[in-house]
Amino acid sequence: MTDIKCTPFYYLLIIFLLVNLIKCKSYYPVVIIHGVLTGSDSMEQISSRIQEAHPGTQIFNTPRYAGWSSLEPMWHQVEEIGEDLMAISAAFPEGINLLGYSQGGLLARAILQRFPQHNVRTFISLSSPQAGQYGTKFLHLFFPDLVCETAYELFYSKVGQHTSVGNYWNDPYHQELYFKYSKFLPFVNNEEQSVNTTDYKLGLTKLKKLVLIGGPDDGVITPWQSSQFGFYQFNETVVEMRDREIYRTDAIGLKTLDKAKKLNIHTVPGIPHDQWHKNMTLVDLYILPYLD
Ligand SMILES: *[C@@H]1O[C@H](CO)[C@@H](O)[C@H](O)[C@H]1NC(C)=O
Ligand SMILES: *[C@@H]1O[C@H](CO)[C@@H](O)[C@H](O)[C@H]1NC(C)=O
Ligand SMILES: *[C@@H]1O[C@H](CO)[C@@H](O)[C@H](O)[C@H]1NC(C)=O
Repeated sequence: MTDIKCTPFYYLLIIFLLVNLIKCKSYYPVVIIHGVLTGSDSMEQISSRIQEAHPGTQIFNTPRYAGWSSLEPMWHQVEEIGEDLMAISAAFPEGINLLGYSQGGLLARAILQRFPQHNVRTFISLSSPQAGQYGTKFLHLFFPDLVCETAYELFYSKVGQHTSVGNYWNDPYHQELYFKYSKFLPFVNNEEQSVNTTDYKLGLTKLKKLVLIGGPDDGVITPWQSSQFGFYQFNETVVEMRDREIYRTDAIGLKTLDKAKKLNIHTVPGIPHDQWHKNMTLVDLYILPYLD
């Protein structure tokens, strides 16, 4: 009887096992999109944490539209960052994961819809105004006197639509003007039908996992439920995602994902808006488990 250890088969087996061991330990690359008025540097800490916990993860933390340029129209940003994402998709045909914080999460969502041929597996939306924004706190930096009640006069105009915030400003008291002027949110929410409606739904429905993270102490995203597709209806009473039209009619696939158990929602209290990407306990608990 020959000793199996001496056969070429034995060496092949060892190589096979080693290759698989390395394979098993590799993670899908992660594309990261920062929030408004900041840049990729604000997402360095979270990037490092991911790489520390999941060694070997390739991270693409977009440097585009940092600082003031983050206020440029949403569609411009979607187009440009979307092209980058598609190039990364092509380089990693087995799939990638996507994480967007604040405005970056809404940009990320729209990129998935605008480029439905993407190969994103899991998309994590970290406190992003997915259903729009009706709060001026973070705008006081450059519009000190802006108040919610009259902001629509600025945002629902041709000029106002040249800003990212105007593109997702959602005033429950001026919905007619919202539909008349807004060039972005009604379209990506499929509230406004277009030739792109089918693609916009496909781009989200094909995800393996959609994770929506937000919480009641956010202080900037208003209402905070917008981070989970909830929003005001008629007045300032919040309607949860599952009771809203966008979900009930399955306009963008949220219901499909939910029924297939591919939609995970996390409500985390005690986190102010500027901490979501800086609190590493939170990253460990709610983000890392989804990054495979
Ligand atoms: C459909 O999508 C294309 C590509 O983004 C865009 O150029 C076009 O304006 C969109 N059409 C409508 C009606 O939204
Ligand atoms: C908002 O509107 C709903 C439905 O019309 C009504 O039930 C609710 O009482 C209103 N809330 C406020 C604060 O006006
Ligand atoms: C970080 O997040 C954890 C988990 O939600 C929370 O318990 C903790 O209080 C947060 N820490 C800070 C400093 O906000």
